[in-house]
Amino acid sequence: MTNKKITIKDGQSNNEAELPVLESILGPDVVDIRALEKDLGYLSHDPGFMATSSCESKITFIDGNEGKLWYRGYPIEELAEKSNFIETAYLLLNDKLPNNNELELFSKNISSSYNVDPAIKNIIEVFDKSSHPMAIMTACLSYLSAKYHDNIDIQNKDYRYKSTINLISSVPVISAWILNYILSEQFQEPSEKRSIAENFINMAFPKLDPDQKNLSSKAMDIIFLLHADHEQNASTSTVRLSGSSETSPYAAIAAGISTLWGPTHGGANEAVINMLEEIKNSDKDVEHYINMAKDKENTFRLMGFGHRIYKNYDPRAKIIQKIAHEYLSQLDNTNPNKPLFDIAMKLEKFALEDDYFVSRKLYPNVDFYSGIVLKAIGIPQSMYTVIFALARTVGWVAHWNEMIEDKNFRIGRPRQLYTGKNKTSYRDIKDR
Ligand code: CMC
Repeated sequence: MTNKKITIKDGQSNNEAELPVLESILGPDVVDIRALEKDLGYLSHDPGFMATSSCESKITFIDGNEGKLWYRGYPIEELAEKSNFIETAYLLLNDKLPNNNELELFSKNISSSYNVDPAIKNIIEVFDKSSHPMAIMTACLSYLSAKYHDNIDIQNKDYRYKSTINLISSVPVISAWILNYILSEQFQEPSEKRSIAENFINMAFPKLDPDQKNLSSKAMDIIFLLHADHEQNASTSTVRLSGSSETSPYAAIAAGISTLWGPTHGGANEAVINMLEEIKNSDKDVEHYINMAKDKENTFRLMGFGHRIYKNYDPRAKIIQKIAHEYLSQLDNTNPNKPLFDIAMKLEKFALEDDYFVSRKLYPNVDFYSGIVLKAIGIPQSMYTVIFALARTVGWVAHWNEMIEDKNFRIGRPRQLYTGKNKTSYRDIKDR
């Protein structure tokens, strides 16, 4: 904490409150406003949490103006180039890169927990094949929360470690089973010898030739790594809030999955492909869609553009754009995804030169290109957000652990600005 403080004077009562300023290592310092209520009787009001820090965190740093994303201090570009998903998961959870022994043990712990309860397959089969996979996913997590309900002990480090490993290992296997099911394929089994990305590709596309499996696993691993964490976004904040009631970690992750599903959060990558397909099949050109997005009378938005935090190019979008280039260039030239990629590049070029997007600092976000790569790999569109959830499970559990270890840990309970009726007397139905 610095010695800096902000003094607020109530113009009516002349009372004052001293608000200490908490120093950030990077990014804006934060005003601790708790004295506002204690000393002056006021609450703060910040719909959409535009200027509110909800917790202290050491996991991920984002500078939206500069387009920076760092996991535990390491720039995402460097991790995407030199690391992999498993090592990055270790980093996010442990605040350091592992040495050889630590990485080996961590990888072994993960792969030896691939043996998810086969009853999950029955849960999946209850759903209609056309059900959204995110709904199936939350049901599977609910099953796990029931299965592991009896020994919940969130203050116990061992319990948390086991739950953490179990979640990071189980969600990918469940995701692959959901994919098998919606494609009407047989459930495939994971292998302890494979990494999470290799397992996912092998389980999802068992008939693919080995070179293609290798190529897709590499692309998938980077996609997982890029999606592993993103500080206090809506789903992570949900996991924290849900977990703050000391509920089962499996239930808290199910809550996060539900939040991630929405089209303005993780669901945007699906929406991007819908938009690109629509443009491809329309007789209107890209400029027409740019104009639609700018028209305030029209609800159409350029999906995959804009971000609450990034007011510059999302660094993940740059990496995925490169992967899309590389991946598509290694595929057959007649690959049906190439035209979508061309439309995306055109949209991006138009938008980056258009004053509407420039003045509002609307740049491509991670979802703008991730859907194209996933589509080229062969993942059905409805599974895109599941892939996001699979990767983000690492970030969610890292935040869940950090929250419980925080000395200020307590249940999250936002307050409100009440604008409803004052006390009103009940009137009998015949008198209304
Ligand atoms: N297309 C056209 N106009 C837009 C767009 C867009 N994609 N995004 C924002 N704007 C405009 C918006 O209309 C507003 O204009 P004005 O100031 O004239 O009213 C201005 O830009 C600010 O937008 P906002 O809605 O106040 O910004 P926000 O921070 O509340 O919303 C967002 C951020 C991501 C929800 C929004 O940009 C959006 O809906 N984008 C499309 C969906 C999308 O790609 N979502 C993925 C987010 S990244 C993945 C993740 O982290 O989960």
